[in-house]
Amino acid sequence: MARKKKEELEGTEELEEKQLELEDLPGVGPMTAEKLREAGYDTIMAIAVAPTQELSDSSGMTVAGAMKAQIAARNALDMGFISGTELVERKSVVERIKTGSEDFDGLLGGGVETQSITEAFGEFGSGKSQLGMMLAVNCQLSKEEGGLDKDVIYLDTENTFRPERIKQISESRGLDPNTILSRIMVARAYTSDHQMLLVDKLDEMIGKHPRKFGLIIVDSLMSLFRSEYAGRGTLATRQQKLNRHLHALQSVADKHNMAVYVTNQVQSNPGIFFGNPTTAIGGHILGHASQFRLFLRKGKGGKRVAKLVDSPYLPEGEILFNITEKGIEEA
Ligand code: GTP
Ligand code: MG
Repeated sequence: MARKKKEELEGTEELEEKQLELEDLPGVGPMTAEKLREAGYDTIMAIAVAPTQELSDSSGMTVAGAMKAQIAARNALDMGFISGTELVERKSVVERIKTGSEDFDGLLGGGVETQSITEAFGEFGSGKSQLGMMLAVNCQLSKEEGGLDKDVIYLDTENTFRPERIKQISESRGLDPNTILSRIMVARAYTSDHQMLLVDKLDEMIGKHPRKFGLIIVDSLMSLFRSEYAGRGTLATRQQKLNRHLHALQSVADKHNMAVYVTNQVQSNPGIFFGNPTTAIGGHILGHASQFRLFLRKGKGGKRVAKLVDSPYLPEGEILFNITEKGIEEA
């Protein structure tokens, strides 16, 4: 369809329905749009919230020009202000998914919350994927049993999703393994762009699906980003993309009252000589985006330790749990 000029559409419903493209912004031609997209600014929202200087640097526009495009982008958007009353109403529908361990639930203030991103980071074998699979089962339980009675979306970036494990956990908890499995939609992501695209398409997918979803799992959030953006000078691009990805996850979570659980890797931090020399990767962008950050590690006698390191209102704390045939259990 030939694109109509915006003036022709002014005041018509067509304009409201029309998704603005970067090329619709003042001073942004096809070449500039291309450069912006390459730099990761591929939506009107991304333009609206970007640092003006970076927009200018990455596109070759003057700072004044970039600012003009940005003001137009901001005007075109519903920037998402909501009243305090509405905020209270929204937060009051926050629900929780139980982990399988009461201590663990206690650490999280009752379980993994909807409308928030919960991140688990830790070394290999610390239980990050196991917790993900456990939540995928528990999300489907009734509310009385500590679930949401909703289906699950599982983004698998490392090919570590194990249907047999889901079956085992379900069976040992007296649930029908085939029903449980059929309510987990698994997508394998092969590149970070693919991973981002899957999340960008989620809203549409959720809208079309006959059942409701309560949980998105991304296992692992960072592995593809980390391997693809390993070179010097690529960190800024990686962080911009990660930022967009996290915003997309948060917005689906808010809109559909879903929980988001992501796993993350650690890197050894040679700057720390005392305490545990490992930090989550993803930097401040991830640190700020995930409302609940859990550090998982192996403890004595096969037990696991979960430490809440960052949360908006809960105290920091540490608990023990077990990984068993039944998934996550009390230590
Ligand atoms: P990476 O993805 O490698 O970084 O690790 P991770 O943190 O995701 O580890 P994961 O959650 O896969 O935990 C693996 C550990 O869970 C294993 O070392 C086992 O101790 C335990 N585990 C996995 N499957 C089973 C099972 O079927 N039964 C029991 N009892 N334990 C299991
Ligand atoms: Mg894993």
